[in-house]
Amino acid sequence: MTTGQWIILDHVVALLGIATWFAAGVALALRRTRLAFAALVAAVLVTLVRMVTVVMLAARGWWFVQEKVLLGLPMLGVAGAGAVLLAARRGRGDGGSAGGVVSVLTTAYAALAGLVVTVLAGYPLTLSTALITISLVCAGALLTARVVAPPIENTADSEGRRGISRRRFIGWTGGAVAVTAAGAGAGLSFLPAESEAIGGGPGRSSRAAVSVADLRGPGSPAPGGTVRRAVLTAKKATVRLPSGREIHAWTYNGEVPGPAITATRGDLIEVRLRNADIDDGVTLHWHGYDVPCGEDGAPGVTQLAVRPGADFVYRFRADQAGTYWYHTHHASHLGVRNGLYGTLVVTPRDRQPADGQVDLTLPVHTFGGTVVIAGRDGRTEHLAPPGTPVRLRLINTDSDPHRFVLAGTPFRMAAVDGRDLNQPGEVSGVALHLPAGGRYDLVFLMPDTSVALVVDDDRDGGLRLHGDDPGEARIEDTSGLPELDLLRYGTPAAVPFDARDADRHFTMVLDRGAAMVDGQPAYAHTVNGRGHPSIPGQLVAKGDIVRFTVVNRSLETHPWHLHGHPVLILSRDGTPSTGSPLWVDTFDVRPGETWEVAFRAANPGIWMNHCHNLPHAHQGMMLRLHYDGVTTPFGGSPGHGH
Ligand code: C2O
Ligand code: CU
Repeated sequence: MTTGQWIILDHVVALLGIATWFAAGVALALRRTRLAFAALVAAVLVTLVRMVTVVMLAARGWWFVQEKVLLGLPMLGVAGAGAVLLAARRGRGDGGSAGGVVSVLTTAYAALAGLVVTVLAGYPLTLSTALITISLVCAGALLTARVVAPPIENTADSEGRRGISRRRFIGWTGGAVAVTAAGAGAGLSFLPAESEAIGGGPGRSSRAAVSVADLRGPGSPAPGGTVRRAVLTAKKATVRLPSGREIHAWTYNGEVPGPAITATRGDLIEVRLRNADIDDGVTLHWHGYDVPCGEDGAPGVTQLAVRPGADFVYRFRADQAGTYWYHTHHASHLGVRNGLYGTLVVTPRDRQPADGQVDLTLPVHTFGGTVVIAGRDGRTEHLAPPGTPVRLRLINTDSDPHRFVLAGTPFRMAAVDGRDLNQPGEVSGVALHLPAGGRYDLVFLMPDTSVALVVDDDRDGGLRLHGDDPGEARIEDTSGLPELDLLRYGTPAAVPFDARDADRHFTMVLDRGAAMVDGQPAYAHTVNGRGHPSIPGQLVAKGDIVRFTVVNRSLETHPWHLHGHPVLILSRDGTPSTGSPLWVDTFDVRPGETWEVAFRAANPGIWMNHCHNLPHAHQGMMLRLHYDGVTTPFGGSPGHGH
């Protein structure tokens, strides 16, 4: 079972526990003794099963169980043990005593409170959360005691049962509170302090401050390169989809995707962004491209959002060959969805595409529920004579992953996120899971027969390549094909640093929970229990080797994306990457997964570090990586950075 499945099972068992404890309490109050006894036995059994699920989760990481081990289970254990002891002592037939009812119901409250803490607070557990929760459970117990057992000392009811003694009850509850609180407190005090950094001494901060506004691109191309100029005007427009359907979109130059920006390695790219009528403001972010920080297009961090009528010039060297894309980074959960994106493809100088080669740049985007995969010409059918080298550049511009199958030919995954893999082997009959924001370059020689690119197992959509014979290829059902595991694909090669002696290590535990987002309380997408902008920034110094541990406690996939640096994948769920070195700018952390990645801090600036499911980023899942000594003059602007 995957950790994600254990998380779900644990929730189900927790719910069952709540239900059985409540059932036992209610049956007891109604003096349905048999039923109460059965429910009590069930509740105890479910609680024991719960311990198993928690132990299983604990084996996969402390992050998954901290609040359960330190608070939820101790509360449940203390209350449950009390309830069982009370029931045993009163003996058969006397289970309907008020004390029994209160103690069993209190256990139900404790079970409920434990789940609520998991769902609303998660990791890391704070002392205030623990104290508030324990107080609420105790308040529930006292209220229940008042209702089911009026505080009359030593008064027997008609059947000779006695109401609970108030003093004894308060003593009992107080004892339970003290024990639980002491346990939680002791546990919490043993927690390792969340360290902002490991290694990296003080004293580094003494260097002179530099503003991101001064971290700009060069004014000229590399020797032999040219200047590639473009003007992109953000404006609303009606555009026609390949299907013929017309949609209202936010566009660059009236087109979706925006103009294709292409360059040869060493060229200087100079793009003037104008905003015609996007009221919210826009920027251009060069996704995956390691531009100087001042060109990064993060509003509120590297610039102010470009308002209607204003403009901004981006200038950077095309130093990396490969498949990239650009998009607005202001209110990007709306802007990108509405069409403010385009492609950026840089070809190596020494490997210009051969004549006759088919090289298709294919951004995938969902418009009103329809997945569109097509280049800017809108065609989904292409001709490629047999033997032609074909390169398909898949770009996921959506917020959710897509699944691709290339049917009809073996192929190689030449590059991931723009960076070439080492000796990628030929594969076929596999599905490719492309995270939001990610890119895959697939290469193959065109066979005699047709080739189909199937997206999300929809055999009617996608893209077709035809050889001589444009006959429709029969496409088998692709839904059962296994996913290609990139951590085991290609051949290992030397990497430029040893990630084992990282200078800094940051853990990001991704979850959902109650948190403040932009000053508003929300059911947020959180990092370490907090939402943007309250998530502490990550401080690094130039030259540091930085390691990230990214843990997903939630039930949704989070495509993690750091600006300005590719990260090297070290491991997933403790299993090291054994294939080609895998340098990515977005990696999907699926429910229950734990990823280790590393990078060299070689690009000074202040960089967004966020989930590329853009609605998630908007709902809090976003923080910043700061280089020591770098400041921003754009911080206080209303255009916060996403
Ligand atoms: Cu493609 Cu911060 O984003
Ligand atoms: Cu996310």
